[in-house]
Amino acid sequence: MTRKACIIGWPVQQSLSPIIHTYWLAKHGIDGEYGRLALEPERLVSGVEALKGDRYAGFNVTMPHKQTIMPLLDSVDELANRIGAVNTVYMGEDGRYHGTNTDGYGFLEHLKQSAKDRWNRERPALILGAGGAARAAVVALLDAGLPRVTITNRSQDKAEKIAEHIADNRISIIPWSDRDRHVADFGLIANTTSLGMIGSAPLEMSLEDAQPTTVIYDIVYKPLSTTLLQAAERHGLTCVDGLGMLMHQAVPGFKLWFDQGVTVDDGLQAATREAMKC
Ligand code: ATR
Repeated sequence: MTRKACIIGWPVQQSLSPIIHTYWLAKHGIDGEYGRLALEPERLVSGVEALKGDRYAGFNVTMPHKQTIMPLLDSVDELANRIGAVNTVYMGEDGRYHGTNTDGYGFLEHLKQSAKDRWNRERPALILGAGGAARAAVVALLDAGLPRVTITNRSQDKAEKIAEHIADNRISIIPWSDRDRHVADFGLIANTTSLGMIGSAPLEMSLEDAQPTTVIYDIVYKPLSTTLLQAAERHGLTCVDGLGMLMHQAVPGFKLWFDQGVTVDDGLQAATREAMKC
């Protein structure tokens, strides 16, 4: 029987997830399909019931449903609860639907594979932003053993809420207006805000004082080369772009739904870059 998975969101048309999963389905000759399901918030409950009724192997969840999906599932694992959001749902062997979160995995895996030993995880990290992506990045970095993870966000109360929710004494907060002042302290600086995205203002950030070994990570992938990464390049710093995070976060979901381990290979890189041109 054809195993089915999809991504739900509103809007969802722009999602690259179908490109990624369809690539792996074809590569491994799996009898499966991965589609898009646009669900406006009022239709979330009925839409999820329909997927369960159709015995979907699972689905990805994107904005604006990453939190509202949580009470609709039979269980949510500890990782997703710490992050405070679910991006991957799968049907267990028990026939029930479970939620997890692979965004932090994708963030960290792409960082490890791109920056390799140029990233010194014994130095603190600075996370810009306090949305869902920031929460996943903070949890992943704490779990990777970093000595300190500092958050800065335009609305500081949101950064404080993250610190309160994750409750780890390695989290600290600095005011948004001070973000340039402490650049020299960090081994990793990651932008998780929407600044720099097509249609948004660029991220204003001076990298003048960054240590030569500092890694600059921008999870924005439209465009792939953001003004932040261009500035990092000018300073000779190691750059990590946002597209890899998206591909890596898809790996655990594919395994859960289609029971096949996969990798982010050159073919997948080419397919996603091609799709981004459209
Ligand atoms: P996601 O869940 O995808 O990470 P989000 O919850 O919409 O996205 O968060 C977007 C992030 O970009 C937030 O940290 C937001 O800051 P606020 O919490 O102050 O809104 C940040 N952001 C968006 N526009 C911004 C701007 N013009 N200046 C500074 N930060 C901005």
